[in-house]
Amino acid sequence: MIGVSGASGSIYAIRLLERLRDCKAAETHLVVSRSGEKTLFLETGKLVADLKGLATYSYPIEDISARLASGSFRTDGMVIAPCSMHTMSAVASGISSNLLIRAADVALKERRKLILMVRESPFHLGHLRSMVNLAEMGAIIAPPIPGFYNRPASVSDLVDHSVDRILDLLGLPDAAIQRWDGPRPQD
Ligand SMILES: Cc1cc2nc3c(=O)[nH]c(=O)nc-3n(C[C@H](O)[C@H](O)[C@H](O)COP(=O)(O)O)c2cc1C
Repeated sequence: MIGVSGASGSIYAIRLLERLRDCKAAETHLVVSRSGEKTLFLETGKLVADLKGLATYSYPIEDISARLASGSFRTDGMVIAPCSMHTMSAVASGISSNLLIRAADVALKERRKLILMVRESPFHLGHLRSMVNLAEMGAIIAPPIPGFYNRPASVSDLVDHSVDRILDLLGLPDAAIQRWDGPRPQD
């Protein structure tokens, strides 16, 4: 399952869905919050229909009767990319007020993988406490913090580096990616 909330970084959702589509190893189930739709448009000019076009299945955020809302629907886990402080806080406190948050709650209660690409800066203590609560419940807090050791040449390299790490966490590693293998001989 892929949840897209209204934090900055909708490009992470686009690239994650593109990479999952290209690796053909996973069926994707997408749910996008209203703020996620707005941020997607403001940041990329794309519409939610463009995002849905990258997923295998998609569901309206209000449809709390969709199969993602039930633990009996088997999934390998969920990534929220990007994850706003609103959505993160709701998941941390078990408030299942929309399908995205309910699906994350289901992932937690069924002890499935839940990966949150949280995005905000700076964090206040409430944000940090929610992250600790989520980590204690078994969620993986995976903010898209760029790494520079592979010498990125573009923003796209930085985005893909974070997405590579998410694919690793999902157990769907991309065989073609560049991995740190120690300093190069000339360094
Ligand atoms: C352009 C834009 C960027 C935003 N960036 C962030 C962000 O990085 N982190 C965050 O927590 N909220 C951010 N917000 C605010 C969220 O969209 C807002 O809190 C919203 O209520 C989140 O709702 P959702 O969690 O249901 O998607 C941003 C909003 C806009 C319009």
